[in-house]
Amino acid sequence: MPLLIKNGEIVTAESRYRADLYAEGETITRIATHIDDVPPGTEIIDATGKLVFPGFIDPHVHIYLPFMATFAKDTHETASIAALVGGTTTYIEMCCPSRTEDTLAGYELWKSRAAGNSACDYAFHMAVTRWDEQTEKQLREIVADGTASFKIFLSYKNFFGVDDAEMFHTLKLAAELGVITTAHCENAELVAQLQQELLAAGKTGPEWHEPSRPTGVEAEGTGRFATFLKHTGATGYVVHLSCAAALDAALAARRQGVPLHIESVAPHFLLDKTYAEREGVEGMKHVMSPPLREKPNQDALWTALGAGFIDTVGTDHCPFDLEQKRLGEGNFTHIPNGIPGIEERVNLMYTYGVKRGRMDLHRFVDALSTRPAQLFGLAPRKGTIAVGSDADIVVYDPDYRGTLSAKTQHTNNDYNGFEGFAIEGRPSVVTVRGKVQVRDGQFTGERGRGQLLRRKPQYFTQQAKDAHAG
Ligand code: URP
Ligand code: ZN
Ligand code: ZN
Ligand code: ZN
Repeated sequence: MPLLIKNGEIVTAESRYRADLYAEGETITRIATHIDDVPPGTEIIDATGKLVFPGFIDPHVHIYLPFMATFAKDTHETASIAALVGGTTTYIEMCCPSRTEDTLAGYELWKSRAAGNSACDYAFHMAVTRWDEQTEKQLREIVADGTASFKIFLSYKNFFGVDDAEMFHTLKLAAELGVITTAHCENAELVAQLQQELLAAGKTGPEWHEPSRPTGVEAEGTGRFATFLKHTGATGYVVHLSCAAALDAALAARRQGVPLHIESVAPHFLLDKTYAEREGVEGMKHVMSPPLREKPNQDALWTALGAGFIDTVGTDHCPFDLEQKRLGEGNFTHIPNGIPGIEERVNLMYTYGVKRGRMDLHRFVDALSTRPAQLFGLAPRKGTIAVGSDADIVVYDPDYRGTLSAKTQHTNNDYNGFEGFAIEGRPSVVTVRGKVQVRDGQFTGERGRGQLLRRKPQYFTQQAKDAHAG
């Protein structure tokens, strides 16, 4: 069925104008001031008073995740429905086999989990958690299969973490293949030592998670990653950058010409470390890595985001329920790390970013849709509203008022990390490749509609490596 969205205000990273938008098949085929000559049976959506955004892209989520002796709670069905209700029409999931697992077998496992189960489109970042001849060969196959980005963890020693030699080899291969490498930047050894010291001193509660991974640990990891990029010629992307010290390290590297892009995630803009200092499981809910920080770091992140120094906003969506969080009772190092957010990101960043004057509407679309598409090889199919692009559209109601709560969420979890946060706006209609999937907070579409998006390597030239805008 063709789709016509009438009378809305189209907003992209560069422009804002009133127009009608028509999609045939899965693609936007016309944009014009007035479109009335449509065939019978066209689905017509009146977007009067609404903003019309390109579908939002979450560049960092965990859905299937065996981690810290348990599994994250979502399936691709529940996570994709949560994503769509919140305006996210594409997510990039971290494919994370552990060090002891075969890389290609892991990739096939993650693909099989998602296939036929996701209601929105998706891609993967391939985590490199070991290095040997076989792994290198397999990574070449995985890139050829259309997964054109790597992920490395400088943290999580003995599980996902790589050492410096493994990082070096991974980045050399990434440079050769023209793929971007995303990295969790914390010094694993220092974290391990600080954790042991704190536990030995009887400091066992969730409030000690942040002191076990202080900002310097992250700044060191960020700087070291940048140094390795410089000497391998690879392009990098720091995930979930949480603090001013790491931001300084990343920007210093960039000033020296290192092609390094920056992501921060919703929790680090909106929640400070006092959330993890709450009593018992209330604190455990808010344990993630890098940890929630002291408030001044949030101000630094907002300023850098508004100015475009932070490229993208993701979530690091990672749902563990209260029973799982309690695995860390009496020992904070056993609290499964992660906070969900795939459903909340767009509304939170609109409310606390755009409406509070911390970034303009174009930067909002850029950071949550356009730049993720550009950096990860999804543009121009995704990330903008243009003739020829996929008809992934969010008709957004800026007059909606509501409150986030576990009671109304779609994520498969029994708490919401942003419980009680007011939101000023939400999607009223969300489409995936021309089909309406969400209306007014409810999933009304087709389960399993999502497709794996295959991407091409794009980081061969210096110009591509440096590109910060489209
Ligand atoms: O705490 C977090 N971030 N959990 C998910 C794993 C990761 O580090 O991204
Ligand atoms: Zn991480
Ligand atoms: Zn950038
Ligand atoms: Zn993550």
